[in-house]
Parts: sequence; C-alpha cells; structure tokens
Amino acid sequence: MTETEITGDSKAIVTNQPGVHEKLVEIVKKHVAHPSQKPIQAHTQQAFDEINAIVQAFAGDIILDSCCGVGQSTRLLAKQNPTALVIGVDKSAHRINRNVDEVEHENGKGKVENYHLVRADLNDFYRLVVAANWQVTKHYILYPNPWPKAKHIQRRWHGSAVFPQIIAVGQEIILRSNWLLYLEEFQLAADVLAFKGEISTVNVTQPLTPFEAKFHASGQQCWQLHIIK
Ligand SMILES: C[S@@+](CC[C@H](N)C(=O)[O-])C[C@H]1O[C@@H](n2cnc3c(N)ncnc32)[C@H](O)[C@@H]1O
Repeated sequence: MTETEITGDSKAIVTNQPGVHEKLVEIVKKHVAHPSQKPIQAHTQQAFDEINAIVQAFAGDIILDSCCGVGQSTRLLAKQNPTALVIGVDKSAHRINRNVDEVEHENGKGKVENYHLVRADLNDFYRLVVAANWQVTKHYILYPNPWPKAKHIQRRWHGSAVFPQIIAVGQEIILRSNWLLYLEEFQLAADVLAFKGEISTVNVTQPLTPFEAKFHASGQQCWQLHIIK
C-alpha cells in the first residue's frame, strides 16, 4: 500500500514505552551542550543553496513544511496563504517527485505557484536554515515517522541531535501525530529549552496530508502540538 491510498486499515501505534522516555531530558540537554559537528552532505547543501537564494529574495512570510512527503500539505498551505512562500522539504525523491496536483487543478482555477518542494535531509537542512537566519513564520512537521520502540528515541525529532535547531525555526511550530506520546515528548523537550506548547485534538474535515487522511479513515485520533513563541 502507498501512503496516498486512503484506506481505513492503518494500525494504531504500538510501543514498549510506558510513558515519556526516561532519558529524554538528559538527551535534549546533551544535544544543547554539544551541537552536532557532522559535516553537511553535498546534496543537501546544494538543494539548500538553491532555495536559500529564492528565500533571501522574498519579502513576505516564509512557511516551512518539514517531512512534506508528496507535498500535499505544502500545496494546500500555499493555497491558503497566497502571499506567503511555502517550502516543503522531504528526503525522499520518490515522494517529492510524485505529482499530486489536485490543488492546482481544483475547479479549473489558477495554479498555485507560491511553493517549492525541496529534496534534502532535514538533519542537515535545519542547521543551514538556522545559520542563514530564515525568518519562518509557521513551521509545520506533519506526521513524522514515530519510531515507537524505546531504543529508537534518538530517531524521533525531539531526541535527535538537530532538535535545538528544529525548535529555533518558526514563530509558531505545528506538529501533528496519531501518537499522543510523541507530542508529549516533543512538548517536554521544548520545555527544556523554555518553549511552551499546547496539545489538542485535530478535527479532520479536509485532511492536510495523506497520512492524516489515512489515520482519519482508520478511526484514529490525530493530535496537534502548537508552540507559539
Ligand atoms: C510518515 S511520512 C509523513 C508524510 C506527510 N507529512 C504526510 O503526513 O502524509 C514521514 C516523512 O518524513 C520524511 N523524512 C523522514 N526523515 C527525514 C529526514 N531526515 N529529512 C527529510 N525528510 C525526512 C519521510 O521521507 C516521509 O516522507
């Protein structure tokens, strides 16, 4: 099954964690104290340089859609925010290159053109965004891979070395998941850096992404963490 097929058979998250990961705060503090020194991969540097030239030349609001998959949310956000520039980023060429054009051709109306889809690894891309001082208004992370096994905590965004940069991007951060514990952990990690966020349920009417559509069709609750700085 592909992620764009909206079927009702998505399984709920199964985890061996009874609650927030016991080492989370320690991990976040370690990543704050010791920023990642890993070299930036050439393909992400090149992709960033191209989009950075466009961003630096743009005077309006910048919206970042991280882990955008096929870019459905990027297009929808661009349509909803016609004066903003919306940048969707995903590491998967397969997803980025998939043509999802229902937004452009909806009702035969004009094309949505105020967005770009970028293929890049966010572990590097976020560091470049912070170094280039992008003034992002809204930073979306919609349905990131959950990595529900406890031993994979550092693969979740809040457990990753790039978390201090992730949290630095955007006047607002909007994170969605079908796994409440993921949001609770991200909220706690943000709190370590003195950012406060609220968790609420997502009332799905028009799904923002294929994964949201899939979870909704399976009867699963979707959750949102909203951090306003
Ligand atoms: C579960 S999918 C969600 C896609 C989309 N946001 C949606 O809701 O339909 C997670 C996405 O995160 C992307 N991803 C995971 N790690 C990434 C990384 N390090 N850099 C960029 N994209 C990444 C994957 O390629 C995948 O498309």
